[in-house]
Amino acid sequence: MSIVENSSYYIQLEKKFGASNYEPLPVVLDRGERIYLFDVEGKRYFDFLSAYSAVNQGHCHPKLVQALIEQSQKLTLTSRAFFNSKLGEYEEYITKLLGYQRLLPMNTGVEAAETAVKLCRKWGYQVKGIPENQAKIIFASGNFWGRSIGAISASTDPLSRGGFGPYVPGFEIIPFDDVDALKNSLQDPNIAGFMVEPIQGEAGVIVPSDGYLSVCKKLCQEAGVLLIFDEVQTGLGRTGKLLAGDYESVKPDILVLGKALSGGILPVSAVLSNDEVMLTLKPGEHGSTYGGNPLACAVAKRAVEVLIEERMVENSFKMGEIFRSRMNILKSKYDDLQEIRGKGLLNAIEFREKNGKSIAKEVCKKTMELGLLAKTTHDHTVRFAPPLVIQSEEMNEACDIIEKAVKFCLDSK
Ligand SMILES: Cc1ncc(COP(=O)(O)O)c(C=O)c1O
Repeated sequence: MSIVENSSYYIQLEKKFGASNYEPLPVVLDRGERIYLFDVEGKRYFDFLSAYSAVNQGHCHPKLVQALIEQSQKLTLTSRAFFNSKLGEYEEYITKLLGYQRLLPMNTGVEAAETAVKLCRKWGYQVKGIPENQAKIIFASGNFWGRSIGAISASTDPLSRGGFGPYVPGFEIIPFDDVDALKNSLQDPNIAGFMVEPIQGEAGVIVPSDGYLSVCKKLCQEAGVLLIFDEVQTGLGRTGKLLAGDYESVKPDILVLGKALSGGILPVSAVLSNDEVMLTLKPGEHGSTYGGNPLACAVAKRAVEVLIEERMVENSFKMGEIFRSRMNILKSKYDDLQEIRGKGLLNAIEFREKNGKSIAKEVCKKTMELGLLAKTTHDHTVRFAPPLVIQSEEMNEACDIIEKAVKFCLDSK
């Protein structure tokens, strides 16, 4: 191996020429296949992050790569100044699958969430009749929908917000999983919407009480307020159902999707809703140069087809059961594991804080050494979210690694 090919070379390059807004684990990835990642030295890892749940279909899924190649040789970008031969078919497929009348294509998750916020305000003025510039949107504390000024204005995380003010007005925060707080806030006639993640991913895989989502739906309906589900992370099989809202058969007025919509191939996001909401937007009022480009549409349609054809949603449900049962056995042996939580393949272990510290970070370092990549969310929690194509033998092997890492970190304390 030449000097320019080892990990430290690439790490130094990023450290020297890149911005310092991330703190990656010291592994340099070079190749991915299904549930595995390989570093530049050729070492294999289980991927238990899936690029924050974007790679649900597994790395470099051959059918997605094929769709990418075929479309990239034909037409990649037209802008929305013209029609293209891929967008309409993609929109028809996704809206029919998910039971909405319309889809608005964007690229990243944050753009789609921001679009939902704009759409909600517009509906608030045009349909609900809220006086100009008075519309408010409710968010739950601990929410995460990206890094734009809009997203951080709704954030309760000091690290996301600090030093970036002033913030966008018209956002109200209530505690997550608190029905009374929602009821109370909904009394304000200027509320246009409530945007919530069915399971809060970045907050540390926080699962609300059973019934919370359906009560949210009922309360919003009664108050004439739009319910918006941000399923950018929980959507498309991640939690063991096609959408996390399916656990309570709750269909929000606005659905936000991203990440796995392209199976990790390129940034594709979408906002779905019915005519009453979506048609409040008129030409020129919103858009994106790359949104709805034919390459993205071809890949995204295939990515969702593959998810369904290959029964990845059902597999996510089953594999999640194995993961949590294995981790609950581990928890019964070690007091340092405070809680195991999650649904499908969106799971977390929260480690107990002792003297202001937990072993979460050391566990990630150790699993990396043993061949499994996972990352902490906040200081005490490790999220485990492999691609949905993992099989039971592989899941058990991965659980053995996590178990070994936890034991090692506790024994060496
Ligand atoms: C629930 C949720 N919404 C929105 C986003 C933002 O997505 P993106 O990073 O693609 O902008 C994320 C990213 O982690 C997310 O978890």
